[in-house]
Amino acid sequence: MITDCATLLFIDDEENILKAVKRLFVETEYKILTALSGKEGLDYLRNEKVNVLVTDQRMPGMTGLDVIREALKIAPNTIMIILTAYSDIDVTIAAINDGHIYKYIVKPWDDEEFKTIIEEAIELNIRRDKTTEAYVQTLEYKEEIDRIANKLRNADFKEILAIADTVEYRDNYTIDHCRRMTEHVQLLADKLSFTKEQRDALVRGAVLHDIGKITIPVSILNKAGPLTFEEYTIIKHHSLNGAEITSRVYDLNDITPFILEHHEHYDGKGYSHGMEGDEITREGRIIAIADAFDAMTNNRPYRSAMTCDRVLEILESEKGRQFDPDLTDMFIQVVREKNT
Ligand SMILES: [Fe+2]
Repeated sequence: MITDCATLLFIDDEENILKAVKRLFVETEYKILTALSGKEGLDYLRNEKVNVLVTDQRMPGMTGLDVIREALKIAPNTIMIILTAYSDIDVTIAAINDGHIYKYIVKPWDDEEFKTIIEEAIELNIRRDKTTEAYVQTLEYKEEIDRIANKLRNADFKEILAIADTVEYRDNYTIDHCRRMTEHVQLLADKLSFTKEQRDALVRGAVLHDIGKITIPVSILNKAGPLTFEEYTIIKHHSLNGAEITSRVYDLNDITPFILEHHEHYDGKGYSHGMEGDEITREGRIIAIADAFDAMTNNRPYRSAMTCDRVLEILESEKGRQFDPDLTDMFIQVVREKNT
């Protein structure tokens, strides 16, 4: 069986539980790693490939959710499962809805069910790895990164806008997205009394924030239906690829962090690195708000445009979660002022 050589990591502060889990898989070829704390488990994860991580939720020190949050930064493809008691189910379900956990297993578990969940998780991990590998090894996107980086070298602002347009033309639904965003970020730059250099960098960052989409197949960018897990994994590469492009252009090195961070969330639940709060540059946090506002007030492949008022309500409700609370307040204010 393809999954025979998988490595499983179990984290629980109770030795008896770890022993029970080991017994459960004694007849398989899986490599079983066990750890009595989150810290010990994360050390394993740093040193070897783990297909599936199963952690208890209630532990002294790091909870299971804390462990998973850190584990995702180290091994984003590893499948995360949480062991929980009935009393903790609410918090677990919320975490599953955030998309960070594959499944939860309630203690005491049913042996057969436990084994099936693990087998399915291993298969999912193998699929994830294959998708990432296939994508990373695609030569076309590497050539595309070189091509765009060369074009951007020595480009003036007008040329930069034209290059950003080429990305938008591939992505039918976002025509003029960058130009509209530029307007909004400049209003915020005024409120924040940015220097001319800071303002220029913010505007260049806003214009080029999605430049990495040049490496994403059009069939995925313009897909009308919901994305599969694999397609979403590919889409998520655009912030990394965008940052790779600008990092190769000396004059654009200053905006590379903004591009890398434009899908990070204030609460640490975004991508690509799960950064949170002030770890994300102020410009990255501003671009994230302006990007979301513009996306929601315009048609997308999967939904129609929402009204400005509705979108401002959504921004308000995401304060402290997806978005920086102070910058969101400021953004809402500048949009209201602009519309009156
Ligand atoms: Fe983006």
